[in-house]
Amino acid sequence: MESLFDIKIGYASPKNPIVLASMAGITDSKFASRFRDAGLVILGGYNLDKQTNDAARKEIARGRSEFVSEEPMEFLKDELEATKGLTTMAINVRAASLEPYVDAANLAKKSGAILEINAHCRQPEMTELGAGEALLKDTKRLCDYIKEIKKTGVVLSVKTRANVVNDAELARAIEKAGADIIHIDAMSPEGVDIGVIRRVRNSTGLFIIGNNSVVDFESAKEKFSHGADMVSVARAALANPGIIDQLVFEVSSFQAMTGWYNAPKHICAGGDLRALAFCCLPVKPCALHGALKQAGISAKEFMKLKTDFARNTPIEYGEGTCFGSMTWCCKITKPCFLRDGALVARGLSDVEYMQIKKRQSEYILKHRKLP
Ligand SMILES: Cc1cc2nc3c(=O)[nH]c(=O)nc-3n(C[C@H](O)[C@H](O)[C@H](O)COP(=O)(O)O)c2cc1C
Ligand code: SF4
Ligand code: SF4
Repeated sequence: MESLFDIKIGYASPKNPIVLASMAGITDSKFASRFRDAGLVILGGYNLDKQTNDAARKEIARGRSEFVSEEPMEFLKDELEATKGLTTMAINVRAASLEPYVDAANLAKKSGAILEINAHCRQPEMTELGAGEALLKDTKRLCDYIKEIKKTGVVLSVKTRANVVNDAELARAIEKAGADIIHIDAMSPEGVDIGVIRRVRNSTGLFIIGNNSVVDFESAKEKFSHGADMVSVARAALANPGIIDQLVFEVSSFQAMTGWYNAPKHICAGGDLRALAFCCLPVKPCALHGALKQAGISAKEFMKLKTDFARNTPIEYGEGTCFGSMTWCCKITKPCFLRDGALVARGLSDVEYMQIKKRQSEYILKHRKLP
């Protein structure tokens, strides 16, 4: 199962795209020990200094669960030590100033873990200190922190809450500052805002962890097909710890069957720009033209990019398909006997076809013009 996925973020190589998200006061090393099959376990949120630990004590006094410690860095060291070898690990952290983040980054890097800045918490005791969600509203400070923390060489994630600020602009700033991962809680007043995953996918090259209300493979796939590289689960894992293993099983089966577990929906079905790989020749008025405009690619360039990529690959061929070449063909999950006939004629499996489409999508997006 482990070699099925090829997920790499700097020195971190999660074995599959399913994540246990952090829950303060709950997700410590002991809780995590049940989730060794997850691709990534995020511990915390840990409070890194006296101010955030005092704030957490106030939260506990009003009934919230939090981790507190008199010796936050020793506590962190022990937690990282206790989870060595479990799976790929991350630590979600809060602090009132830069220095504790840098110290935590050094510890994380030393044990091969990812550091995650908590720019998500909205408890007033934390935001008053400039921690948690306050960082979203102070992008300059967040980006200054990212730049300094990245000097340690740690793999860095930023946990955000959607619809607090302009998410695409925030993601671009985070990327420019040097972060590796954006972990997006896609919440909105109306429920889950799946569009935020697509907007971030379309505006950056950041590695994306999609979060909020993943309760089964259908809800996970919704995030994957809009651009998430991994999906994370918090509350559902509390209610049913078996959900993580179940999701790992289902995404692994899907990957084995299709070769591209987070393939996008077609553009006309609301997919992100990666789906240009599945688009037809630009010969009719449809959603493709809007997508090309967004990618900063002309219709002529698009035709050239797709044919250049296909040349000398098996998808160059496709007699009998709509446009005479599989370079213009749809996703494998869209039933089509014409394309399937062309695949058989070329001796190409569904998985091989989708792997080529994935590379084609990366090739097209390498040529897009980001805003
Ligand atoms: C009890 C509890 C504590 C949480 N603590 C944190 C935290 O410390 N840091 C963080 O980034 N997110 C925290 N979260 C948010 C979750 O990681 C997740 O983003 C949110 O619950 C939505 O995902 P879900 O629908 O899978 O639960 C917490 C959530 C819960 C329910
Ligand atoms: S080109 Fe084809 S797949 Fe792409 S948006 Fe238009 S109709 Fe949909
Ligand atoms: S032949 Fe089938 S898969 Fe290819 S473009 Fe036409 S409908 Fe899509």
